[in-house]
Amino acid sequence: MKFTVLTLFPEIPRAFFENSIMAKAVEKGIIAYELVNIRDFALDKHKTCDDNPYGGGAGMLMKTEPLCRALEKVNVKPKTGKKNGKKRNKTKRVIYVTPSGKPLTQKIAYELSREEELVFICGRYEGIDQRIIDSYIDDEISIGDYVLSSGELAATVIIDSVYRLVDGVISSESLEEESFTDGLLEYPQYTRPEVFAGMKVPEILLSGHHENIRKWRLKKRLEKTLRYRPELIAQARNNGKLTEEAEKMIEEITNPSPLSGETGD
Ligand code: ADE
Repeated sequence: MKFTVLTLFPEIPRAFFENSIMAKAVEKGIIAYELVNIRDFALDKHKTCDDNPYGGGAGMLMKTEPLCRALEKVNVKPKTGKKNGKKRNKTKRVIYVTPSGKPLTQKIAYELSREEELVFICGRYEGIDQRIIDSYIDDEISIGDYVLSSGELAATVIIDSVYRLVDGVISSESLEEESFTDGLLEYPQYTRPEVFAGMKVPEILLSGHHENIRKWRLKKRLEKTLRYRPELIAQARNNGKLTEEAEKMIEEITNPSPLSGETGD
């Protein structure tokens, strides 16, 4: 899979591509990447990449021409004719990262991980001209309800959530139990030493009893999800992902019987 990033600050995503698991995936040839500096495509000698918005208002927008020329360089063509944004480029999906896009979810990350190539446009200043969005963009994606000073970090977050789902990058076993894979948050984890700062690892994890450990972990996931993200419980229920066992545990957690004591910790 290939990631192409159009940016005024290629060094920001570069650090990500050149380190850790991503660097290994690149070395193995599972992931390829291209960083394109939009400034290289500016038309004037000052390499200007920003301009005033029509209608006035605070801040500047990214200039259209350098952006278009950078898109051309990576073979992204404008959409032609069709009104409803039909994907014009089967092998490339073009994403504009913006706080006004649809929120990134694990489901979207999975969907994107099935593409051959993703092209990201990182905005600076107040963003980009709507006509660029209308002509070139397949998806506008936000990484959360807050505003960053530019798109590079957001694009890198999206790339991180996507590349790790590509076959061969990390083991499918590691992906199976992590937060969101089945709609719940993750259970707590412990490593050595057995006692740290006076706090002991829950007894059940030392028992070697796999079935009890599985049940304990499921209960912890449910407790945590109920506490921090109760809406995910409703969602998991609607998606048929809550087993009878999980429903019983939820009942125990939300209406604890005075006789039932916590086990294991
Ligand atoms: N650019 C600035 N803020 C952003 C956000 N929250 N998500 C995606 N892109 C952004």
